[in-house]
Amino acid sequence: MYIVPKLDDYSPEALDRAVTELRQALSREEASISSQSEWKEFRDRWLARKNGILTQLNNVWLKPSPPDLKRTVGQVINALHPEIEHFVMNGQSRVEDIRTVLGSLSKDILASERLDITLPGIRRPIGVKHPVLRVMDEIVAVFKAMGYSVGKGPEVETDYYNFESLNFPPNHPARDTQDTLFIAGQEGKPARDRLMLRTHTSPVQIRTMEQQPPPVRIIIPGKVHRNDPLDATHSPVFHQVEGLAVDTNITFCDLKGTLDHAMKALFGSSVKTRFYPSFFPFTEPSADMQVSCIFCGGKGCRKCKFSGWIELLGCGMVDPNVFEFVKQYGYDSSKISGFAFGMGVDRLALLKYEVEGIQMFFEGDVRFLEQFA
Ligand code: DAH
Repeated sequence: MYIVPKLDDYSPEALDRAVTELRQALSREEASISSQSEWKEFRDRWLARKNGILTQLNNVWLKPSPPDLKRTVGQVINALHPEIEHFVMNGQSRVEDIRTVLGSLSKDILASERLDITLPGIRRPIGVKHPVLRVMDEIVAVFKAMGYSVGKGPEVETDYYNFESLNFPPNHPARDTQDTLFIAGQEGKPARDRLMLRTHTSPVQIRTMEQQPPPVRIIIPGKVHRNDPLDATHSPVFHQVEGLAVDTNITFCDLKGTLDHAMKALFGSSVKTRFYPSFFPFTEPSADMQVSCIFCGGKGCRKCKFSGWIELLGCGMVDPNVFEFVKQYGYDSSKISGFAFGMGVDRLALLKYEVEGIQMFFEGDVRFLEQFA
């Protein structure tokens, strides 16, 4: 790198040599720059006011020069100023050229990597609630609005919760009404501990009462299983919503009033309810509830089999024998009473959405399901 030499000899020849050396260095340095930052360094090295080479010439060459030669030396230095500026400008345009070349090169690269973002992407279909879940949620919402909590229980259940504590004695014929899917290899266990797929959501009544003392208001949506042969209205998997209210002085009037209100909230205020005597081991008295046909208003149509009524649920007053099983949790049947009900969800969904067969709900065929989107 060029360093301004001290001049001991101010003869015209010596001055000439020094200027030639400087020009060569200037030209060499300019030729070696290849980037914007190198150019800036080059410019400052030669032209910076404070310690650039041009300024140094004044200090190193001019100041110590003999007085009679000051004028000449001054003229030499002044003449160098535009020359240095010329090289600096040259350097700048050269670097700019390099940048344009590089720019066009990267343009080619960019062009070769071009991606058409206007092409349509892969659409992800948005999921919707399954029709069975939708009906189930509607039922649950009606009871939530009446202050009921939502409960849940296991789908693999013991004989004790599914049958025994619900007042189905061992070998009682009522068990036969719920064709049960048992878990294999349970023979070694005591009968009440044997596992099965729950045949109804009613065991969650007992589980709830074991968890909290009265009063209880609970609504339990869930999946249940029975060994039913598959046909248009039967599936080994289906859904129920169970309800339980326990408090002091709960009467059959509360049961009727609550269910009647729920049906009106679900299907509209013109819907009527009626109750028929029935039998369930865990309620006494027991009833089946029907609603006036929600499709024809009771005139009679295909959906209500021209009867004007649709059977929706089983219900009744909690049998005191059931409370015996949860006595130690605070349920004393001499002080409290309760009502319970259980309704099938799938049949309602079948009717509501005019679906031909229940198996459609569980096959997972997207062509069927996307109709509910
Ligand atoms: N668990 C019964 C069934 O699956 C339905 C039922 C009837 C539930 C009466 C109840 C009830 O809570 O009180 O057939």
